[in-house]
Amino acid sequence: MSVLCLFRRTKYFGPYQRDLAEREMPQISVPSEVGKTLYLLAKISGAKRILEIGALGGYSTIWLARALPRTGKVVSLEISQKHADFAKENIEKAGLSSLVTYQVGNARESLEQLIRQGEKFDFFFIDADKPSYIYYLEKAIELANPGAIITADNLLQSGRIFDEEDQGPSPQTIRKFNRQIATDPRLESILLTIGDGLGVCRVKEK
Ligand SMILES: C[S@@+](CC[C@H](N)C(=O)[O-])C[C@H]1O[C@@H](n2cnc3c(N)ncnc32)[C@H](O)[C@@H]1O
Repeated sequence: MSVLCLFRRTKYFGPYQRDLAEREMPQISVPSEVGKTLYLLAKISGAKRILEIGALGGYSTIWLARALPRTGKVVSLEISQKHADFAKENIEKAGLSSLVTYQVGNARESLEQLIRQGEKFDFFFIDADKPSYIYYLEKAIELANPGAIITADNLLQSGRIFDEEDQGPSPQTIRKFNRQIATDPRLESILLTIGDGLGVCRVKEK
């Protein structure tokens, strides 16, 4: 076996990836450099309440929860009960259960519910169904404390956003999303070219 092959195995087939494969769950968690960036952004910004949209097996949730003080909270929205159950197992193993709540259901409904309850958050991570990204951005702004950070993954769509002939629902929405975060007067934004593209926005004080 070549060194490269061994590296790939180590990188992509660690215990978490193996567990995902065994459960026939997709290998679409953020890469570690995106996880570390999320951790640092949450930590540097002093976030106490974090909202994640799209949990899968809890890999990004763990990076986010580790950035919190003991009294902090991550609320993670996940449509699949199977994914949420696996994420809870991993959060338990990481000793972070007291900091994390999973809300199972369509994030569109969960977001409306959080708005009705008057909840507010300091940090957001959007990483679920791409065609809903603009909707999620609007709801995140509604739920944001002044100065909150909104992050969103997969803004490069593996380069598909640059091919204007590609009119698939995901690249189409993500092109609009990227224009929106670049021009929305309520936000200050940057697209970091790490992983598959990580958007970082700050919600301005009114
Ligand atoms: C890319 S994965 C999340 C990966 C995770 N953030 C990580 O890096 O470890 C996307 C997740 O969003 C969930 N999802 C898709 N559509 C959703 C929706 N409408 N509401 C809530 N969750 C959704 C999927 O079930 C999947 O688990």
